[in-house]
Amino acid sequence: MLILGIESSCDETAAAVLRDGNILLSNVINSQVAVHSPYGGVVPELASRKHLENIYPVVEAALTQAGVVLDDLDGLAVTQGPGLVGSLLIGLSFAKAISAVKSIPYVGVDHIVGHLLSPFLEKEQPEFPYIALVASGGHSSIFLVRSHTTIQPLGRTRDDAAGEAFDKVGKILGLEYPGGPIISRLAEQGNPAAIPFPRAWLGAESLDFSFSGLKTSVANYVHQHQQKNEPFNIPDVCASFQEAVVEVLCEKVLKAAQMHGISTVALAGGVAANSRLRAALQKLGAQRKIRIFMPSLELCTDNAAMIALAGYYHFAEKSTTSFDTDAYSRSPFLHPDFVFAKNPPPSPAVRAQP
Ligand code: KG4
Ligand code: ZN
Repeated sequence: MLILGIESSCDETAAAVLRDGNILLSNVINSQVAVHSPYGGVVPELASRKHLENIYPVVEAALTQAGVVLDDLDGLAVTQGPGLVGSLLIGLSFAKAISAVKSIPYVGVDHIVGHLLSPFLEKEQPEFPYIALVASGGHSSIFLVRSHTTIQPLGRTRDDAAGEAFDKVGKILGLEYPGGPIISRLAEQGNPAAIPFPRAWLGAESLDFSFSGLKTSVANYVHQHQQKNEPFNIPDVCASFQEAVVEVLCEKVLKAAQMHGISTVALAGGVAANSRLRAALQKLGAQRKIRIFMPSLELCTDNAAMIALAGYYHFAEKSTTSFDTDAYSRSPFLHPDFVFAKNPPPSPAVRAQP
């Protein structure tokens, strides 16, 4: 089965062609970082305009690199949400148009499901059930993944997502957007124990996250030093902040595994590209006899390969999406009582209010 995946939920326009759920024929990503960087974050209208400009050439490049044409495709998978609605609508409308003109079925895919299934794009794959941590610019959530299409949320962020905290701390330190990769690099020269930034555990049993207190603590530290004209060591701030995020992410995901008696954990999302997080989780996993899976770096950040993959499993269960389906900004799937099973959750009736 040959699937074209399309992703346009935030500031990457991406398209990928996947054969039979495991052979990635192409994976094209056009990043808009240079467009948004001067503003210190993603500007929604600029993102939509760029997606509009990029969607055709990106899809064309993905098909060409894969050596296929539209008529070869068996299905289209497109990110339906969560994300910026103006951006999502570009990809969704493009997929609907191809679907209508070429009579190719399409499925709307939840972006977070794409992330949490992304370890299946690698050679070594997790076995079910596994615990997944999705840590990205928009989300920090823990899931119990029972099958490719039966997924239960266990914990979520109560305020800032992990990647958002990296980006905001980057801004506080005057670094370029996105802060995550730069902080990660600077942290290599810093001392992670230099500054005792707080860890929000939110109670012994909680699998929820909160990073806004940590972000405020970094802001206070920096501003106090600036006000007193006292120098401070940026790599130490980066390393100490990063350590606080990594410690909480690792402990909570391993606690989820322990609470549910599961010995497999998968890490996904843009923050999963963080080398300190990858190393720390591998080490703790080995100590606690938990197998850790994580996608390669280019499959951690936003891409369409993971969308094609999630779409493949929807098609495998004969699920398709109708033309009146809309994009959604927030996933109902993240509600603690929601079990994502068999079908993509977002029908207009259950769509979350922005
Ligand atoms: O998954 P992603 O590409 O987009 C969303 O779905 O949000 O994640 C982007 C986020 C950004 O916040 C970025 O700063 C963060 O992932 N990120 C990192 C690293 N690489 C990307 N954070 C920490 N360390 C990294 N190496
Ligand atoms: Zn993402």
